[in-house]
Amino acid sequence: MKNVKWVEKDPKREDVFWPSEEMKKIAWESDPSIYEEALKDPEKFWVDRAKEGLDWFDDNFKKNFEWNPPYYKWFVGGKINASYNCLDRHIKTWRKNKAALIWVPELTEEHSRVLTYYDLYREVNKFANALKKLGVKKGDRVGIYLPMIPEVVIAMLACARIGAIHSVVFSAFSSDSLKARLIDAEAKILITADGYYRRGKPLSLKKNADEAVKGTKVEHVIVVKRLGEKINTEMNKDRDIWWEDAVKDVENYCEPEVMDSEDILFILYTSGTTGKPKGVIHETGGYLTQAYWTTKWDFDLHDEDIFFCTADVGWVTGHTYNCYGPFALGATILIYEGAPDYPNPDRWWDIIEKYGVTVLYTAPTAIRMFIKFGDEWVEKHDLSTLRILGTVGEPIDRDSWYWYFNKIGGGRCPVIDTWWQTETGGTLINSLPGIGPFIPGVAGKPIPGTKFAIYDEEGKEITEERYSGYLVHLAPFAPGMLRGVWKNPEKYKETYWSKYGDRIYFTNDGSMMYDKELKVIKITGRVDDVMKVAGHRLSTTEVEGVLTEHEAVAEAAVVGAPHEIKGEVPVAFVVLKGGYKPSEELKKELINLVRTKIGPTAKPENIFFGELPKTRSGKIMRRILRSLVHGEPVGDTTTLLNPESVTELEKQVKG
Ligand code: PRX
Repeated sequence: MKNVKWVEKDPKREDVFWPSEEMKKIAWESDPSIYEEALKDPEKFWVDRAKEGLDWFDDNFKKNFEWNPPYYKWFVGGKINASYNCLDRHIKTWRKNKAALIWVPELTEEHSRVLTYYDLYREVNKFANALKKLGVKKGDRVGIYLPMIPEVVIAMLACARIGAIHSVVFSAFSSDSLKARLIDAEAKILITADGYYRRGKPLSLKKNADEAVKGTKVEHVIVVKRLGEKINTEMNKDRDIWWEDAVKDVENYCEPEVMDSEDILFILYTSGTTGKPKGVIHETGGYLTQAYWTTKWDFDLHDEDIFFCTADVGWVTGHTYNCYGPFALGATILIYEGAPDYPNPDRWWDIIEKYGVTVLYTAPTAIRMFIKFGDEWVEKHDLSTLRILGTVGEPIDRDSWYWYFNKIGGGRCPVIDTWWQTETGGTLINSLPGIGPFIPGVAGKPIPGTKFAIYDEEGKEITEERYSGYLVHLAPFAPGMLRGVWKNPEKYKETYWSKYGDRIYFTNDGSMMYDKELKVIKITGRVDDVMKVAGHRLSTTEVEGVLTEHEAVAEAAVVGAPHEIKGEVPVAFVVLKGGYKPSEELKKELINLVRTKIGPTAKPENIFFGELPKTRSGKIMRRILRSLVHGEPVGDTTTLLNPESVTELEKQVKG
């Protein structure tokens, strides 16, 4: 169905849109009473959803929701396998020959690959057997460091099939970042590729992997041949094995492991407020329930839809909406390997037109980038197959929302602004396409069966309209919520369960009740030391830690500064040790150090040298640094230990 109007404007309210009759007719969910109904008995609601949406080996749950603050479990005693739900159950139906995955390579001269559900099933079974042959058992950790190629989801589903816990590491992360994650997870196997294309150039990935596995517990490295002859890849014959060889002499079928609902499906590392990323733990049954239902509710996927979620599988969005959610649903996804502007800034629009994408899910940072490229790149393409647009990762400003809505969606498609986190496993606050409302910059209502509130500093609920406070999630927590932090229970308690006690999940986000009548929530952004750089989560402390590793650096403070496209970028203030002088070279060296130690997203946009403003007790006044990079007044500095430092830095920042 092309060019259908899926939304209409509220006749009375500015900036408010609702689903059209056409949308309501086809949407899986169009009855607003679902919210009230679900909250009458959320436990029962989720148990019903779990049983309705998924195939269980045993759904005789001993307990629906078990709560020992700050820990909780869902569907206790249930037996399930995620790979079985994503594959086996579909190949028993007509979906056997349906496209599960359309892969679009970056090079336009290469062909796309389409894997049907049966193709995917066969590949996953074989690779699961290959992992077993290498000694991988239930509960073992497997590192996955792959670009956006079909093998990344095959590897994830193969781990899930045999009960191994995967830890996917974004392929643009440095070898140091990968190493730290492999060590923390004590991974036994690493799956990587010889390399990948970026802006048409072949880049090695294997070299990073080789560096990273040194000194870890990784016994074998499985290598996908993506570039082949295009790159020189050295293989360590006792340790490394090509993917194609690993799957050569294995059986076509691998019995799926019967997993307990609460068995771990994966860990995914994310930045917190300390220098060390933490491994967020997600289990099987609850996560899959939320993944399945939010994919169905939010993106309203039907069998005819083609879902293009632009997130890399290295992030949680890629886990839930480029793998587990859509496959559990039997949907068709499209993944694209390369840069959004290669060979031209209209690559995404070209893909949408060529494949008839119906649902697009991306981040505000990408939208801002496309706005910059100019409308002519969009106007060249027929995007009339689109029905739903989604955004995630950071607050979206009104202008970008309208550009997305009008230019990409032709003013016909709802914009689903989904708020969630690595920790929440799936989306939690957003409007549903068949229910609405759609308002620029406003996420919407908590998904059915979940409760949120906005608290002040003392933990009192704020109910007034447009009063900012802290966003908290109340019990019973959504089934896909994290179950802990890998090998770090203290971090788990401290980050989420200390501000308001161990019975209230603190999101670390600010928010407000935007409209009391519509009951919709607006998210204002992080309230901790976490930056969102081009939608990627990054801790200021992590960057500071790398800077202070340099021999010239005595002290460093990093803050997020506003950026036109990336939303936010790290800016560093550095105090040099005696004997070292500020210079352009040193600045470049430091920027490069961060790039190689963490990855390109983390590299500071700028570095200023000087003294750091401190309180009399010696605490760095980050508030002042933040004001400086935001171009805001710094306020009263007279109580500082060194007020003159501010004047000095201000001169440099204003440049
Ligand atoms: O600050 C919120 C912001 O992204 C954070 C979570 O980041 P991450 O774990 O990387 O997961 C991103 C993808 C799920 C949140 O704490 N955030 C995410 N979605 C939105 C958002 N901020 C505003 N609006 C959103 N829709």
